[in-house]
Amino acid sequence: MAIVTSTEMFKKAYEGGYAIGAFNVNNMEIIQGITEAAKEVSAPLILQVSAGARKYANHTYLMKLIEAAVIETGLPICVHLDHGDSFELCKSCVDGGFSSVMIDGSSRSFEDNIAVTKQVVEYAHAHGVVVEGELGTLAGVEDDVKVSAEDSSYTRPEEVEEFVTRTGVDSLAIAIGTSHGAYKFKPGTKPQLRFDILEEVSRRLPGFPIVLHGSSSVPQEFVRMINENGGNMPGAVGVPEEMLRQAARMAVCKINIDSDLRLAMTGTVRQYLAEHPADFDPRAYLKPARENIKELVKHKLIHVLGCDGKA
Ligand code: G3H
Ligand code: 13P
Ligand code: ZN
Repeated sequence: MAIVTSTEMFKKAYEGGYAIGAFNVNNMEIIQGITEAAKEVSAPLILQVSAGARKYANHTYLMKLIEAAVIETGLPICVHLDHGDSFELCKSCVDGGFSSVMIDGSSRSFEDNIAVTKQVVEYAHAHGVVVEGELGTLAGVEDDVKVSAEDSSYTRPEEVEEFVTRTGVDSLAIAIGTSHGAYKFKPGTKPQLRFDILEEVSRRLPGFPIVLHGSSSVPQEFVRMINENGGNMPGAVGVPEEMLRQAARMAVCKINIDSDLRLAMTGTVRQYLAEHPADFDPRAYLKPARENIKELVKHKLIHVLGCDGKA
């Protein structure tokens, strides 16, 4: 197997009523944990790299680690730029061997979003690379972007046909009430997603793959490990897994997960070091962290995304 685009993955996922997991990667242990899980349950994968991940780990290191994972697992893996904010960044990832890029023009005006997305699509398609666009703005925090709840906005279904037709994008991220990070809904309130918007978007774009960002469920076992071992994350709450499962049965073909991996890694490391205060070998605490990422991802692939056995 080689690095592939998401075209075939999305076609099968749409028809099969499941979704592909798009997991953010920043280092070797995260890549190993995710890809070992996918290998065990034979799931197709999208590994995504943010601008922050590229700054942290370097494009070439991440690319070579992912190439190693393809060799080790024999899985179809799509390598995707997460939240590209400019043509130049997207071009650099296309030139550097990614098979998919996201151009996130969601904070621009509708016309500016169309213009930059179209420019990226033209360049990417000429190089055999697929493109994800975004309409609607998610709340939350990424490395380079902070969007407050007041500035977030749901996707307007009446805009999606024009956006997709004029840009030529291969998939579309929409905002239906999820947000980035570990604080998605007010603790004690019932999490709500606008499935009516998702339904209306898919009615207007039949067969077209939709993407859901901000899809971590924020497992409370890892939040507890963090809070009991010197951390401070009261009120961290995520998207209920049954809602993600429902979205995966609908037109959502790609579900983005990053915060859950961070929680699994950090919770495990904090707990390990609290229990073994004299240990100073990084392998000692990174090994259980990698193992917990693997277990978390296996759970997502089987019980949330439903893509086990689909590689
Ligand atoms: O959606 C954002 C991802 O979680 C990436 O976050 O920009 O901090 O790497 P980052
Ligand atoms: P989470 O913060 O919910 O993991 O979302 C990640 C994401 O959308 C990456 O693009
Ligand atoms: Zn995102």
